[in-house]
Amino acid sequence: MNRLKPRLLTGDTTTGRLHLGHWVGSLENRVALQKEFDCYFIIANVQAFTTRMDRPGEVHQSVIDIAIDYLAAGINPQISTIFIQSEIKAIAELTIFFSMLVPFPRLMRNPTIKDEIRDKGLGENYPVGFLLYPINQVADILTFRPEIVPVGEDQIPHIELTREVARKFNQLYCGVDSHTADEDYVAKGGLFPIVDLKLGRTRRLIGTGGPDCAGHLLKMSKSLNNAIFLSDNADTIAKKVMNMYTDPKRLKASDKGEIENNPLWIFHDIFNPDAVWVDEAKERYRAGKIGDVECKKKLIDVLVALIGPIAARRAFYEKDQTEVLAILKQGTDKANAVAEETLKLAKEFMQQIYF
Ligand code: TRP
Repeated sequence: MNRLKPRLLTGDTTTGRLHLGHWVGSLENRVALQKEFDCYFIIANVQAFTTRMDRPGEVHQSVIDIAIDYLAAGINPQISTIFIQSEIKAIAELTIFFSMLVPFPRLMRNPTIKDEIRDKGLGENYPVGFLLYPINQVADILTFRPEIVPVGEDQIPHIELTREVARKFNQLYCGVDSHTADEDYVAKGGLFPIVDLKLGRTRRLIGTGGPDCAGHLLKMSKSLNNAIFLSDNADTIAKKVMNMYTDPKRLKASDKGEIENNPLWIFHDIFNPDAVWVDEAKERYRAGKIGDVECKKKLIDVLVALIGPIAARRAFYEKDQTEVLAILKQGTDKANAVAEETLKLAKEFMQQIYF
């Protein structure tokens, strides 16, 4: 493949606005990688129907919200491609072909699928399409033949499946030997690169709330009501931080405080660029020489400074939603050109061209 830059693909399911967990898990990475890679960002609205088939209006709104979140976060539509999953027909077609390459028990072993069935209380009544979605995600990725896919930790099983399907397709239809090293598949005549995963600097951000009954801090999530959104204003951020769970045994500033498992310090470690302040303040916290409020105020400043430029770009795009739609249309057209090319090549390799 003759490419000026290596290609990157990633995206989000349209189940609500993006929060700080998305930022440190993936979004910040994407913004930084835009110059080095030819980036494709998929807004996965079909995937949202796996659990929201009864709420189409919500999914529609979420497509727009996530597009604005991307643009606000600093994804530059002049150099990167943002597109809508349901508009790319090649993805749906490849999903069907790829589904033949995945044994059913293999799907059921996917730990993310198991977790989701449990966490979302799906019982045994999940739709066929829910089980199919990892294969649909494989198609999201392979349709664009990217080299890298930056995602959060929970997506690792889907990336592993993507690598398996790509190897199998290349072996079955492109005649690549099964002993080939992953990085050599394309050079040996395979259609699909075996993608590399790229994790964000923080694998899993915890939320602003306390631990569960087993004492584990819960991950940041809209449904757990413990998220700070990229779209929150300074007042909301201040309120959320002020209400944040800290060391429950510490009742006043002169009590000695715990640093471990304390969201206040987990957030400072991740977001506060002033490591010297953080180290000194931790010492004082342990010794009972600094109050929660002072440390929380500092964290508010840090987060407001992070969100500031995001909020400024958001204001621009929220005023001009026709511009947002134009960006989505342009991105989707460009994505479709790539997708149609991949589909044609895939059908050639599968010997299914007739006319
Ligand atoms: N499943 C991903 C999530 O929920 C979103 C997604 C859909 C995705 N298609 C993708 C991520 C392709 C990476 C590549 O966040």
